[in-house]
Amino acid sequence: MVHKGSIVILDFGGQYAHLIANRVRRLGAYSEIRVSETPAKELKGAAGIILSGGPQSVYEKGSPTADHGIFELGIPILGLCYGHQWLAHALNGKVSPGKTKEYGHTMIERSGESPIFKGLPQIMTVWMSHGDEVTQLPKGFVAMAKSSVCSVAAMANESRKIYGLQFHIEVTHTEHGMEMLKKFVALCKTTPWKIDSFVDYVGGQIKEEVGKSKKVFMLVSGGVDSTVAFTLLNKVLGPSRVQGMLVDTGLMRKDEVAQIRAAFKKLKIKNLHIEDASDEFFKNLKGATDPEQKRKIIGRTFLDVQQRVSEKMGLTGVKSDPSSGSGLKVKSDEWLLGQGTIYPDTIETGGSRHADQIKTHHNRVDAVQKMIDAGQVIEPLKELYKDEVRMLGEELGLPKELVWRHPFPGPGLGVRILCTNEVKREKRKVKSDGSISVPHEILPVRSVGVQGDGRTYRHAVALFSRHPCHVTPEHKALATSIPNTNKEINRVLLCTSHDRPVEFTVTPGTVTRERAELLREADAIVSEEMRAADLYGVIWQFPVVLLPFGTKKGGQSIVLRPIVSVDAMTANAYLLEQSVLETITRRILDLKGIDAVFLDLTNKPPGTIEWE
Ligand code: XMP
Repeated sequence: MVHKGSIVILDFGGQYAHLIANRVRRLGAYSEIRVSETPAKELKGAAGIILSGGPQSVYEKGSPTADHGIFELGIPILGLCYGHQWLAHALNGKVSPGKTKEYGHTMIERSGESPIFKGLPQIMTVWMSHGDEVTQLPKGFVAMAKSSVCSVAAMANESRKIYGLQFHIEVTHTEHGMEMLKKFVALCKTTPWKIDSFVDYVGGQIKEEVGKSKKVFMLVSGGVDSTVAFTLLNKVLGPSRVQGMLVDTGLMRKDEVAQIRAAFKKLKIKNLHIEDASDEFFKNLKGATDPEQKRKIIGRTFLDVQQRVSEKMGLTGVKSDPSSGSGLKVKSDEWLLGQGTIYPDTIETGGSRHADQIKTHHNRVDAVQKMIDAGQVIEPLKELYKDEVRMLGEELGLPKELVWRHPFPGPGLGVRILCTNEVKREKRKVKSDGSISVPHEILPVRSVGVQGDGRTYRHAVALFSRHPCHVTPEHKALATSIPNTNKEINRVLLCTSHDRPVEFTVTPGTVTRERAELLREADAIVSEEMRAADLYGVIWQFPVVLLPFGTKKGGQSIVLRPIVSVDAMTANAYLLEQSVLETITRRILDLKGIDAVFLDLTNKPPGTIEWE
């Protein structure tokens, strides 16, 4: 059953569609996400339904569908993109392949009046992403807007309060998108929502999932999400039914463990065991160079440590279960595994039902996935975005510095230490095709990127300038144009330590304690300087990455990757000002073993926030 008065988002599988739930909540109304096929009888009590976008064609076999019974519920319905086409298809209109595909910014012109558009301009720029289009309106509907290639960009049946929009109102690129959503929400009899009612609701959900006797064992990573989830579980279930463990992987930020210890002491939370397992992590990572393999090793080592230590701590109910075949052995009837997974983590791994896989998230390694399928995992924050988690954390009494700390990936510095053991292959020079007009060097490492819904694994190019710490509009423009035109490249950097191209030498290296120590120091310098320049709160995340090459044999390089983002799905490179860049570069070059520094200028897409 759905929460009474909620706006239910039926998920047809589009990546962005899930932003809708977040946006509805921002408007102060309760909202929930359900799979598209959810039977209409389970949606009774909902205030309205929004049908999300999705990557398929409604006339394709096996494409996602919804129960036609939703039309009998008598509540307002809004279809977006695929949802709009599905409405037309389901109500006996017609959807056909469009002659021209529309992607990106598009102008629409409205006609007629509708509460959804009341007071908005006649001509608006919206965000489109579609190949198919509605070519025949269902009975009782009128067209409300058109674009140059699409005659039904919006349609409405006012008496039944059913609306279809070909564009995405949930993304910021659509002018007045939030206002249209607000006007739809206003048509629905919603239950008010705010973060403290979420504490109560999630509390209820946790109690329901955990039952009266089960306990939750939770790995706390030191990051915001798992710290908030653990604190919430403590509040809801009480300390006797929760046990936390913080595994010090050796891949954490400087002083991270001490900060957590102090925060919990203040909250009088005593059920967190801290285990230094750094030797084991470095041992297991020995020789590993492939990013996905490293993530999997880190994920599995986490689980092994958890298993071993929990047995040693004498937690009843956590026993060997050879049948799990994963190395993870939790007896399901007494303990659940708690995880701090938040919404973007699940979608980027293809956790959302129809979304394509982009990257393996360590919360979703096979062993954990098996446990999720077996109902042994609880993820209380799985429908929340980062800023919502932070508000929740503050409300729970966690200190501001901790709650507003930049997000940090679960595998920690492990995915920020680039590795190679193949000097020869990486030394092979990639040729620039002559289209790059400024001095540059294609670097001897590759990094992960994302284009469309697919992954890329390509080289980065470094630009050089006579004023190395001065980012110009030309640099910024090249950061967009180079990956668009050069298929070997997905990242553009500015070298802040050198004013002309240099010959770089690869030094084979994997994830070792020494390299982690070096990166930790560089990362601490960056955080310190960001706070000193009052930029820590402006920048959303600032990965600092260690690369296995330098200007001398044995030398290494550092990449600065400051970005601004709303929810990590897309991000813009933050252009640091010259004086700040100069200070950071100088201080990092003082670290023994670092002889080059770069600033990453690439947006996401085509680069991801992390380098692996
Ligand atoms: P990308 O690099 O995909 O990152 O643009 C998006 C956000 O996710 C974080 N991230 C991870 N978090 N385990 C995590 O817990 C991971 O394996 C992982 N990989 C990326 C990243 O820091 C950014 O905030």
